[in-house]
Amino acid sequence: MIEVKHLNKTFHLKSGDVTALRDVSFRVEKGSIYGIIGYSGAGKSTLVRCLNLLEYADSGELRIGDDREIVLQQGRPAIGGRKMTARQENALRRGIGMIFQHFNLLDRLTVFDNIAYPLKHTGKNRIRIRQRVMELLELVGLTDKADVFPSQLSGGQKQRVAIARALAGNPPILLSDEATSALDPEATESILTLLKELNRKLGITVVLITHEMAVVKRIADRVAVMEEGRIVEEGSVYDLFSNPGTEISRRFVASSSLLGKIDRMIRDNADLANVREGELLVRLTFEKECVGQHVLTSAAKETGVDLNLLLADAEYLQGSPLGGIVGILSGTPESIEKGIDYLRNHHVRTEVLQDGGVHQNRRTESLHVPG
Ligand SMILES: Nc1ncnc2c1ncn2[C@@H]1O[C@H](COP(=O)(O)OP(=O)(O)O)[C@@H](O)[C@H]1O
Ligand SMILES: [Mg+2]
Repeated sequence: MIEVKHLNKTFHLKSGDVTALRDVSFRVEKGSIYGIIGYSGAGKSTLVRCLNLLEYADSGELRIGDDREIVLQQGRPAIGGRKMTARQENALRRGIGMIFQHFNLLDRLTVFDNIAYPLKHTGKNRIRIRQRVMELLELVGLTDKADVFPSQLSGGQKQRVAIARALAGNPPILLSDEATSALDPEATESILTLLKELNRKLGITVVLITHEMAVVKRIADRVAVMEEGRIVEEGSVYDLFSNPGTEISRRFVASSSLLGKIDRMIRDNADLANVREGELLVRLTFEKECVGQHVLTSAAKETGVDLNLLLADAEYLQGSPLGGIVGILSGTPESIEKGIDYLRNHHVRTEVLQDGGVHQNRRTESLHVPG
C-alpha cells in the first residue's frame, strides 16, 4: 500500500518559484496497478522522486508499504517525530524498484552485469548472484541475452533488462516513469503485458506514470489525472473512461478512443461533422449496464428521433465492455428532446458536440459542450 497525503513541493529558482506538487493525496492498494497521467510538466516525475525520497517534498505525509508514516516538515522527512536516518532512507529505496523512459543501463556492462549490479554489496556470494540474475532473466524472457551489451538490444529488450534490474532486490513496489514512452507500439504492448504479468505473478504494486491514456487503459486498475501539480480527478479506469469529469480527462479519453477523431473533425470544420438546422451532433457512451440492449432502436421507435451514425467504437476495460458512437440526431425538436432523455435514462451518456440551433438554450446547459 502507498498512501500520500497533502504533498507539496516548490522549487525555488533564480527566475522564480515553480510549484510542482500542490496538495497531492492518493492511495494505492497493495498489489494493484495505479496509473498517474498528465501532460509534460504536470509534476509526475517530481511526485515519484518524492515517493522514494530522491527528492524531499516540502510538506505532507507518506506511507510506503507496511512502514510507519513519514512526515515531511520544511522539507525534512521524519518517522515517529525523529529525522529519518540515511539507513532508513536507503531501506525505503530498496523496497521500490524504478524504471525510466531511457532505461538508464550501463552501456559498458553486459546484460548479466547490469542486472547483477544492484546485487553487489548486498552480501550475496557470486553463486547466489548468478542464480538470481538467471531467475530474473527468465522472468523477463531474456535468458539468451545474458552476455550481450545493451547496444545490441532493441528498445523493448533494454526495458526488460531495466525491469529485471529494478526487481533484483525483490521490491514490493515498482515505479514506472514513462517506461514505454520511447518504445514503438509493439514493444509498448509487450512491456505492458510483462508489467501486468509481474503484478499478477509476484503481487508487485505498480505505479505507472505516463502521458499516454492508452497505457493506463491497457493495464491500470485506478488512475489519477494530474494537471499543474494537482490531482484533478481520480477513480477506476472504467469510470474515468465512461464518464470523465474534467476537461483534461475528456481530452485524454478522446486521445485514446476512435471517437476522439470527431474533435479534430470539428476543429477542421469537416463536412461530416457539420449539422443542419435543428440537428445535434452527439457522442454517446454506452456503459456496461446497457450492453446487449437495443437502446438505440428502442429510442428511435419510442421517440421518433433519428440517428445517423458517423463513428463507432467498442472495447473491454477491466473486463467490462464500453462502447460509444458519434452521430447526428435529427427529427422534430420534441422527438430529439425525448430521444436524449430516453438515452440518458438508459445509461447512455450523451454529449452534445455541435448544435444546429433550436435546442441551444434548452439542452446544452445540462450537457457537456467542449470548449
Ligand atoms: N529539479 C528541478 N528544479 C526546478 N524545477 C523543477 C525540477 N524538477 C522539476 N521541475 C519543475 O517542476 C514542474 C514539474 O516537472 P516534472 O515533475 O518533471 O513534470 P512531469 O514529469 O509531469 O513532466 C515543471 O515545471 C518542472 O520544470
Ligand atoms: Mg516526467
